[in-house]
Amino acid sequence: MTRSSRVIGAEHVSMAQRAGKQALEIMAGDIVTGLARETAERLGIRLLDGPLERPAIAKTDGSSQMMRGLYRRSPHWIGPKKPRPLGAARRLAKLGLIGAGGVGANIAHLAANGDMADEIALVDIVPGLAQSVAMDLNHASGISGSKTRASGGMALSGIAGSEVVIVTAGRARSPGMSRSDLIDINARVIRSAAEAIISHAPDAIVIVVTNPLDEMTFEMLRSTGLPREKVLGMAGTLDSSRFRNALARAAKVHPSDVEAITLGSHGDEMAPIVSKAKIKGRPVSDYLSQAEIDACVRDAVTGGGQVVALRKTGSATLAPAHASIELVDHIRGAKAGAVPVSVMLEGEYGISGVVLGVPCHLGARGVVAIEEMTLPPGEMAALKAAADAIRKRLGG
Ligand code: LAC
Repeated sequence: MTRSSRVIGAEHVSMAQRAGKQALEIMAGDIVTGLARETAERLGIRLLDGPLERPAIAKTDGSSQMMRGLYRRSPHWIGPKKPRPLGAARRLAKLGLIGAGGVGANIAHLAANGDMADEIALVDIVPGLAQSVAMDLNHASGISGSKTRASGGMALSGIAGSEVVIVTAGRARSPGMSRSDLIDINARVIRSAAEAIISHAPDAIVIVVTNPLDEMTFEMLRSTGLPREKVLGMAGTLDSSRFRNALARAAKVHPSDVEAITLGSHGDEMAPIVSKAKIKGRPVSDYLSQAEIDACVRDAVTGGGQVVALRKTGSATLAPAHASIELVDHIRGAKAGAVPVSVMLEGEYGISGVVLGVPCHLGARGVVAIEEMTLPPGEMAALKAAADAIRKRLGG
């Protein structure tokens, strides 16, 4: 069958950008207008000769029974839907936040309102920023009744003695930029954060939020030399929340009726796990058509990009802050169960030497266990493709 050629105009490029894409596929015979090329240049959308190879789309294929026998452990997947409140949640003595921009400030707000720490220390290189956020939060305590004392400043030594340090510092994406466009700029930020953590809070559990997430988590691990269980990348809790939101909206149910997670990278090779997703305890295919499920998968993958495209400068802040707090809650024992976290893999899922989002159980020492879910071959392939792509971006 021959396909008819298309005229690719500026509007196609803008549409791709709005959908959070970084590239547009041009097939043989397509005509690309001059304005489309200019727009692509301006928005940073690459025009690539198609057909492009794509990571396998997550599919169920009924062979999970057989796969179950092939993996070392196959504990029951504990969905994020019903986190078990443990009663004995610890308050942190000190929470350190490197970066007091949109995500850092919202993390501080949520942590103070949730009374999660005696002290929150914010640090930012922008003069006055961390101090102003801390002051602003303290001003709210007369209404909120929060017992948390917030402090802020420019010196990285401010995080001294923190039990948990969350790093959000770094440049955020602009429209048309991929997360990986930030590797070189933000690796420098991570290296100075790492130095401060080793000097001032060497016992801390470190949560990396700075993009590109998997690569920056790897850099943090390398630069601090900390054991892998203490360096966590926050992405999966955010991407999973976006995926659950998309499924809930499509099925017209409440997000709390949805259990679903994403694994893999925090980028184009994200792997939303459709085979384990449930709506009101039933497979999503009971509620949604394949096309609707595919649209939800796309929404999870492009969600961050959609926010960037609307904001023009900077990326999402509220959902990433909630997703970071989710990890703090698991660390301090307020919630239990497996949550997707980017960690260094050492043979789990048959993958080694790369930081990748997988389900983890967390506790006071960081990652307590990595859960090896039984995945159908299509989803395993997507996970491996994500590992290969990250390894390639890290230069092998
Ligand atoms: C996002 C950015 C924080 O996904 O990576 O919104």
